[in-house]
Amino acid sequence: MNKPSSTLRAWDPPWIQPLSKGAINTFGYRRNQGICSEIDGVAIDDLMNSYGSPLFITSEKRLRDNVRGMIQSFTNHYPTVVHGWSYKTNITAAICRILHQEGSWAEVVSKSEYEKARLLGVPGNRILFNGPYKPRAILERAVSEGAHVHLDHLDELDLMESVAREQGRVVSVALRLNFNTGITEPWSRFGFNLENGQAIEAATRIRLSPHLTLNGLHSHIGTFILDPTAYGEQVRLMTEFLHEVERDSGTRIAYLDIGGGFPSHNALQGTPIPPEQAVPELEEYTKRIGMALKKGLSNRSGPLPLLIFESGRAVVDDAQSLAATVVGTKRLVDGRRGIILDAGINLLLTALWYHHPVQLVQPKDGVPEETAIFGPLCMNIDYMRQMVTLPPLAVGDRLVFSPVGAYNNTQWLQFIELRPPIILVNARGRHEIIRQGETLASLCEQERMPPHLDSSPGHWQPLPQPWHDDMG
Ligand SMILES: Cc1ncc(COP(=O)(O)O)c(C=O)c1O
Repeated sequence: MNKPSSTLRAWDPPWIQPLSKGAINTFGYRRNQGICSEIDGVAIDDLMNSYGSPLFITSEKRLRDNVRGMIQSFTNHYPTVVHGWSYKTNITAAICRILHQEGSWAEVVSKSEYEKARLLGVPGNRILFNGPYKPRAILERAVSEGAHVHLDHLDELDLMESVAREQGRVVSVALRLNFNTGITEPWSRFGFNLENGQAIEAATRIRLSPHLTLNGLHSHIGTFILDPTAYGEQVRLMTEFLHEVERDSGTRIAYLDIGGGFPSHNALQGTPIPPEQAVPELEEYTKRIGMALKKGLSNRSGPLPLLIFESGRAVVDDAQSLAATVVGTKRLVDGRRGIILDAGINLLLTALWYHHPVQLVQPKDGVPEETAIFGPLCMNIDYMRQMVTLPPLAVGDRLVFSPVGAYNNTQWLQFIELRPPIILVNARGRHEIIRQGETLASLCEQERMPPHLDSSPGHWQPLPQPWHDDMG
């Protein structure tokens, strides 16, 4: 049989493409994928040509606009408001610094996050310390620096009391609460439960301690919460508890921290309508929260408690995009077209829960069809999108996923592929690297070769026939 000439084009057999619901609109047209060729006036092609592919691109303007918009919206409905920036959502130093410049405090949940906030110049009394594990040494530091420690469980309360005793002072603490709003899935593994009496028991323990005083209440009811009424109920329950502890102990609660959970304009899997329709306006949330605070605190005298919100996702998600390049195409056995990108799920872990909107960097001709987007990993789960309508793409074409700013730069993995750089585009159209891409050297930096393994790279048998050493 003759070998096919390399100049012949590959034959793509005919296929029948089933139309699935949503693939065409009422007029029989397929939905066109949008084009996103620039970010804040800077061409994505130019950025990819300069910094390579894949590439995380952060918009400084968008980030600042988002946090300003949120603070303003809360302030429309309540007079004293602080934003605590949730470090675990995106801990890139430049991103944290921008938010601190906007007045956000740091919300941290571990020793290293606490230390990073301090490294970035955040004073202790502008740090909210959450999380179920705060080792003694970091707790001692947090106490001596005046951080706001939110207690998660009774063992931590004991530990805190012992640290305060040792430091010979009375330390202000806050309690993390959990409860059932009846609207959101309760996150009952964090903090003290209201319904079963744990929370009041913890407040009593603090009241009876000569070393502790209760000055804050915290709760975080979940993430990507699409129903603003959940926050109204959260505030109702928290203010009820505030009255109870103030009545019992005679102390004043200085702040109520309602956590985060506000949605971005991402497409949560399982949500049948697009984000433009599924995600309520921010004002709907802040109005409900303001109304519930007004009602819950109406018969309380003295200054109002400070309101803290710890939004992560809603602040950063749509300020970041991931640009990637097609490295291969194929026809799948079910008829779908498949494309392989140079960016995979190790960079975009949230693709497990979100259908990240994806756009072309440049317009493409051709009949759009249902396409599966794979990453480059040799792992079956490496899907960026299971099915999205795209025109036929070729090697070298570029795509942009956005929003992707929340939880990807913190949950990403060095797995099979190296992690790429993150860049920042500023309002004047300048751009620079805010996190270097990984290299083989950075990857190997932490490894050590024990001396007995150091000398020989391998002890290989000669290759069997028909292999020869010179075959490589
Ligand atoms: C205590 C706490 N605060 C704030 C956040 C930020 O949540 P989100 O990104 O949904 O606003 C989280 C995230 O899980 C959290 O655990």
